[in-house]
Amino acid sequence: MQQELHALREEALQALERAQTSADLAAWRSTYLGKKGKLSQVLRGMGNLSPEERPIVGRLANDIKETLEQAYTERAEAVRQAELAAHLAADAVDVTLPGRRPPLGRLHPSTQVMREIERIFADLGFQVYASREVELDEYNFQLLNIPPHHPAREMQDTFYIERSPDENDVLLRTHTSPGQIHAMREFAAMNPDNPPPVRIMLPGMVYRHEQITPRSDIQFQQVEGLAIGHHITMADLKGTIEYFVRRLFGPERRLRFRASYFPFTEPSAEVDMDCLLCGGEGCRLCKGTGWLEIMGCGMVHPTVLRNGGYDPERYTGYAFGMGPARITMLKYGIEDIRYFWQNDLRFLEQF
Ligand code: PHE
Repeated sequence: MQQELHALREEALQALERAQTSADLAAWRSTYLGKKGKLSQVLRGMGNLSPEERPIVGRLANDIKETLEQAYTERAEAVRQAELAAHLAADAVDVTLPGRRPPLGRLHPSTQVMREIERIFADLGFQVYASREVELDEYNFQLLNIPPHHPAREMQDTFYIERSPDENDVLLRTHTSPGQIHAMREFAAMNPDNPPPVRIMLPGMVYRHEQITPRSDIQFQQVEGLAIGHHITMADLKGTIEYFVRRLFGPERRLRFRASYFPFTEPSAEVDMDCLLCGGEGCRLCKGTGWLEIMGCGMVHPTVLRNGGYDPERYTGYAFGMGPARITMLKYGIEDIRYFWQNDLRFLEQF
């Protein structure tokens, strides 16, 4: 029986060496040291021993049990360390790897340029005034000195929403100018005898029932400026626009004011800037003229001032209007205005 115990000890120690995981260890423990384990089984035969042999075998059995317990504890610690090391290795994070950049959205190029324009005029004291896209004929045309059947209506073909018998149709505004009337009336109502000066920008979408081409779309943005006060002259208009263009396109830009016609301004002018591509020599971009047309402007027509609640004997003002898409096209050399609302990421991601 003593031999049996020695053999068991050898077997158990060798088996313990092979235990790699905590599961192996648990199995080993119940195989050798458990209640129904091999050691217990051997000891169950103690009853057959002589009284002299019994204490000797008992002591031996206790020694072996202690040896195995201690070997188990050591092995268990080694396995625990190995498992921890493996776990840490598997979970390792390489903090030197570059991060994954979350995809970021961006502002539409027109919005970017619109904000740039608004920022420049904000520095000159112009505030943004929001106005509606669905308008009455009255505001889009009549109050701007364009009576029914006036030939100037041909300049801006209109999307009508509702025809009305009294010639006050509901329509999509064809320009941002009706905002002039809304703004003037709101300002004038604050103090009808002495309306306050006005310095506002009117940005927004406008709609025209026209052929879609690389140069004209049926919906596009405009931004319009309006300044009203005492002693405002054409020189103020020219100086303001010159300052604006040089801030947006560079200090070396030259401007040309060409006489033009708008029903709501008198006199009216078209503003040209020397060509960005050829500097005035004449090229494809400027169609050989050396000039690029960038906006319309003029002194607010006395009739329009009166319609807005401002006495044209005491007040003067100027207005100007431009298309940010056109400005953006010139700034970035974009050839086709239809890119702006096609939502093609290959186009939009370039800005
Ligand atoms: N409303 C004009 C247009 O759409 C532009 C303009 C605005 C001209 C203000 C003069 C003054 O063509």
